Amino acid sequence: MSNLNSRPKIYVTRQIPPPGLDLLAEQCDVTVHSGETPPSREEILKQIRGKDGLLCMLTDRVDAAVIDAASTLKVVSSFSVGVDHIDVPEATRRGVYVTYTPGVLTDATADLAFALLMAAARRIAEADEYVRSWSWKAGWSPTMLLGEGVYGKTLGVVGLGRIGAAVAKRASGFRMKVLYYSRRRSSEKERTLGVEYRPLDALLKESDFVSLHIPLTEETRHLINRERLKSMKRNAILINTARGPVVDEDALAEVLENRWIAGAGLDVFSAEPLPTDSPFMRLRNVVLAPHIGSATNETRQLMSEISAKNLLAVLNGEEPPHLFNPDVKKIRPLSEAKMP
Ligand code: NAP
Ligand code: GLV
Repeated sequence: MSNLNSRPKIYVTRQIPPPGLDLLAEQCDVTVHSGETPPSREEILKQIRGKDGLLCMLTDRVDAAVIDAASTLKVVSSFSVGVDHIDVPEATRRGVYVTYTPGVLTDATADLAFALLMAAARRIAEADEYVRSWSWKAGWSPTMLLGEGVYGKTLGVVGLGRIGAAVAKRASGFRMKVLYYSRRRSSEKERTLGVEYRPLDALLKESDFVSLHIPLTEETRHLINRERLKSMKRNAILINTARGPVVDEDALAEVLENRWIAGAGLDVFSAEPLPTDSPFMRLRNVVLAPHIGSATNETRQLMSEISAKNLLAVLNGEEPPHLFNPDVKKIRPLSEAKMP
């Protein structure tokens, strides 16, 4: 990729922290969407034309129409570990490499899941509001803002992958009993993490805290449905840092409102930003965060570097560090993705 006349053309859908844009600019002509809000669909469809690579965010829907709009497209590099915003089978069919950023955001996201768990259990958001609004008139009280204890309780991890396992490790510091449900049982993980397998329905009935770490797929959409939510303990707290649609959110609002479970901590929603008329906005027993699981300086810099390196590797005809759809090589070998 040395010929200046044939430099690859890249579209980046948001300003990202360094060093990603500089890495890309060394080898490519880069167009970057400016502004705080994501590009509109029309903008993406317009900008993608004639591009060899797309570096996108989880807010950008990359479907067959987007891929078709760029006949030259070879790689879609997502600045995320989740790839539910990309039509991966369509990309693969068209010989487009899909890359992502696993691993570097595991600890940041596990920290956030645990922060939400603690905040929901000990009613931190309510307590903060109580102090700031000058509602705290009586000094210390034996009955004020009582919450749920965490130490020694039972945590159910749904999806024992990278982030789920990192949450389980944090729970061991709180002497929690950790149950897990995942697609595959792993005796290795059971041994090293000290976790016990349960079928999903048993895990939900037995856990004091349930933390979701599955990807959003057709199988996991509304996995946590009304019936399952109602089967949870009355003092249970649900944490979702995975994706909004893995939970039936209408049912979750109903069980929270009726106090059929004690609370929730949510970082992800079916509609982001959360609409002002969302029932979660008026419920006090839910702690809300604006999809900030990976939002630390260190993590976002690593995501920037990796997403750029993933993209450049494909255009250089090299194995990208994190390829999500390895089957694509059967359609377009790396040697054919290589730019002159
Ligand atoms: P991962 O390592 O791939 O873990 C996902 C786990 O879910 C795997 O153990 C997998 O099981 C399991 N799983 C997949 N489909 C399942 C199903 N149908 N039923 C039961 N278990 C299933 O992914 P990760 O890096 O931990 O990330 C997990 C998700 O977190 C991402 O996909 C993303 O949506 C979300 N996330 C959110 C944020 C945020 O900002 N809130 C940040 C990062 C990630 P197998 O091991 O058997 O395949
Ligand atoms: C964040 O949600 C990610 O998937 O990276």
